[in-house]
Amino acid sequence: MKVAVLGAGPAGLYFAISMKRRNPAHQITVVERNKPDDTFGWGVVLSAETLDNLAANDAVSAAWIRDYFAYWDDIAVFHKGVRTVSTGHGFCGIGRKRLLLLLQRRARDLGIDLLFETEIDDPRPYMQSHDLVIAADGLNSRSRAAFAEVFKPDIDVRKCKFVWLGTRQKFDDAFTFIFEETEHGWVWAHAYQFEPETATFIVECSEETWAAWGFGEMSREESIATCERIFAKHLGGQPLMSNASHLRGSAWINFPRVLCERWSHKNLALMGDAAASAHFSIGSGTKLALESAVALADYLHSEPTLAAAFEKYESARRTEVLRLQSAARNSLEWFEEVERYLDLDPVQFNYALLTRSQRISHENLRLRDPEWLGDAEAWFQRRAGNSENVHRTPMFAPFALRDLKLKNRVVVSPMAQYKAVDGCPTDWHFAHYAERAKGGAGLIYIEMTCVSPEGRITPGCTGFYAPEHEKAWKRLVDFVHGETEAKICAQIGHSGPKGSTQLGWQQMDAPLPDGNWPVMAASEVPWSPNNQVPKAMDRADLKKVRDQFVASAEMAARCGFDMLEIHAAHGYLLSSFITPLTNKRTDQYGGSLANRMRYPLEVFEAVRLVWPAEKPISMRISATDWVEGEGITPAEAVEIARLLQAAGVDICDVSAGQTSLRARPVYGRMFQTPLSDRIRNETGMATMAVGNIYEPDHVNSILLAGRADLVCLARPHLADPYWTLHAAATLGDRDVQWPNPYLPGRDQLYRLSERTVTQGMRV
Ligand SMILES: Cc1cc2nc3c(=O)[nH]c(=O)nc-3n(C[C@H](O)[C@H](O)[C@H](O)COP(=O)(O)OP(=O)(O)OC[C@H]3O[C@@H](n4cnc5c(N)ncnc54)[C@H](O)[C@@H]3O)c2cc1C
Ligand SMILES: Cc1cc2nc3c(=O)[nH]c(=O)nc-3n(C[C@H](O)[C@H](O)[C@H](O)COP(=O)(O)O)c2cc1C
Repeated sequence: MKVAVLGAGPAGLYFAISMKRRNPAHQITVVERNKPDDTFGWGVVLSAETLDNLAANDAVSAAWIRDYFAYWDDIAVFHKGVRTVSTGHGFCGIGRKRLLLLLQRRARDLGIDLLFETEIDDPRPYMQSHDLVIAADGLNSRSRAAFAEVFKPDIDVRKCKFVWLGTRQKFDDAFTFIFEETEHGWVWAHAYQFEPETATFIVECSEETWAAWGFGEMSREESIATCERIFAKHLGGQPLMSNASHLRGSAWINFPRVLCERWSHKNLALMGDAAASAHFSIGSGTKLALESAVALADYLHSEPTLAAAFEKYESARRTEVLRLQSAARNSLEWFEEVERYLDLDPVQFNYALLTRSQRISHENLRLRDPEWLGDAEAWFQRRAGNSENVHRTPMFAPFALRDLKLKNRVVVSPMAQYKAVDGCPTDWHFAHYAERAKGGAGLIYIEMTCVSPEGRITPGCTGFYAPEHEKAWKRLVDFVHGETEAKICAQIGHSGPKGSTQLGWQQMDAPLPDGNWPVMAASEVPWSPNNQVPKAMDRADLKKVRDQFVASAEMAARCGFDMLEIHAAHGYLLSSFITPLTNKRTDQYGGSLANRMRYPLEVFEAVRLVWPAEKPISMRISATDWVEGEGITPAEAVEIARLLQAAGVDICDVSAGQTSLRARPVYGRMFQTPLSDRIRNETGMATMAVGNIYEPDHVNSILLAGRADLVCLARPHLADPYWTLHAAATLGDRDVQWPNPYLPGRDQLYRLSERTVTQGMRV
């Protein structure tokens, strides 16, 4: 096969090598604009695992690379004058130039033609003269641009500015992050040794800080001198160096995240950064490039046609690329928002930094550095007021709100059961909630319980509006208090435009086949074309419903509930006021955010007056409508939280969406947690995170990283009422309280889980 490879970066060279290794008869030319030893960048990070994969592909080059590998285990973080070191991270790195020189040598040995100092303006002539063309021409690929309508590149230019520098200062004991506060804002560095004499030193900051420093107007020399001053105390008098001579100006850039809908066209395939880029802070760009090269070389030899090989290449590599890009997005967004976290205690800041990509979990950190994690856990417990048994994981730290004291941070999120009769909870509710209260969570919620018959979502929803409701709820609350250590929260709400609809397991949010009741909302905006057009609430309605909330709160107080939550999320009545998607009012309850919040706050204030002063009140909000360009955004949710906080709401239960059929949520593990993180760390208000949180590891990492104060799990508690007790068993925590009659079951479970603990690892 006659092959042209455009670009002699890691992707291009390694692809050429991999092809030649599979069939020495291939005629391969690699074309590169630079000179052989004229490359930008300093060290790149790889992992020992990546190198093992490379060794299986080409043992010779892998051995050469290994000879030059620098290894380091520790990560050091300088923050607020404190240097915190954790270990067990196992990185290795090599100079980019060294790597390319080794790959060039290997390519030459295998008989590959290397054509340097040759600019490629257009890949088309190569496509005509060669059987196969690989476009490995990097982030700003011209080949990709030549067929942009086919590849459909999506290039997301990110917020921070960075410059890739080097230094002779030693960072050989740890991969080092340095955060420096300057007169123009925070500037930080990612530093790591990759050769005995040289370390990479990437300097990064926000666009605003960059502009305030005037980096854009500086020459490269001035820019470097400024960075040297900023990081002087870490550089030991050593200069910073740039080798990006091919870049114009000061060499600062914004990272472009590249995604392409397709990676191939006719006989050309994109590879490496040209196809997909991964942010440098997870050190995976070179790994992706090298592994993609191996994959395509494999498929070109296993598949009957070029088209079949390309198809396999795209489908196999795309999953891996998306996985890494998702981790890279988490990581780069963390750095973009780092100023939000810089006030955290150094322990928490360090933990948040280490877990930022969500690839390293809590238990994974324990495997890496048990001592460091143990200290961090002890810090968390002490700060939570537990100074006795400080080595419990964060989920088992106590939490207090007003006089409410929770034994741990796990919450059974509210979940409608649709089993009520005329609003009255039945034996189903008693059995269901009693089981969850026995299951170990610190706090259990009852479902959205409605303030009036018309305020119900479905005919199966529970209420707080009739004497028999009070009796039934009180029986449950008495049981929970008498037989368990759990606390119980009543969620009160009004369905608004989503009322008079079918049971959850029927056609959700669709009107009843018959027996519909009239519904009301902020404005005459129906949930869907099939739902009723709600009545826009007039003054009398506003007063009546507010008073119904008050009466329900009084009933919940008489029942003895420990906490109250006002449901102002998910498109129900109060939510219909908050989001501009459904609030079209022109009076003082519509328009600006302050106006849209007026009614929910009036309800809260009226309820607060009758709710016992020693007990907390929470509000649940949809912190984004997930409707691009319209509706509530995460930034606006911060403003909502500020208004709640100012009004005296004790904690914000941060949910999202369900406010519009046009919503386009991006699901994933813990997908709503960033919303809680943002509110908590920008306002200082206590928050609860919820949404696809299902493992003990998720809960622990959310808490220790300071992304929420409490963690709600809904569906996991439908599958397992004893989720918390089971989590404790798996984590080896023996300090949870089981109900006395269940102790033999507990003991057997502990014995069984100890048997599965292998070599000191918790499973
Ligand atoms: C600051 C920074 C730090 C990084 N740190 C790491 C790290 O620690 N670990 C890691 O794995 N990755 C890291 N990366 C990413 C890594 O450098 C890239 O992902 C990797 O180099 C991709 O390889 P590639 O071969 O696709 O592209 P490149 O390495 O960019 O190679 C493309 C080649 O094509 C040539 N070329 C481009 N256009 C033309 C043209 N028109 N004509 C002729 N030749 C052309 C270029 O000169 C270049 O040699 C980092 C990136 C940056 C920006
Ligand atoms: C069956 C069911 C009923 C729900 N009912 C309510 C409710 O009454 N009030 C509420 O605020 N959220 C309700 N939710 C939303 C959950 O509290 C939670 O926010 C959501 O399920 C995401 O959490 P998860 O991924 O842990 O399930 C319900 C969810 C489910 C699955």
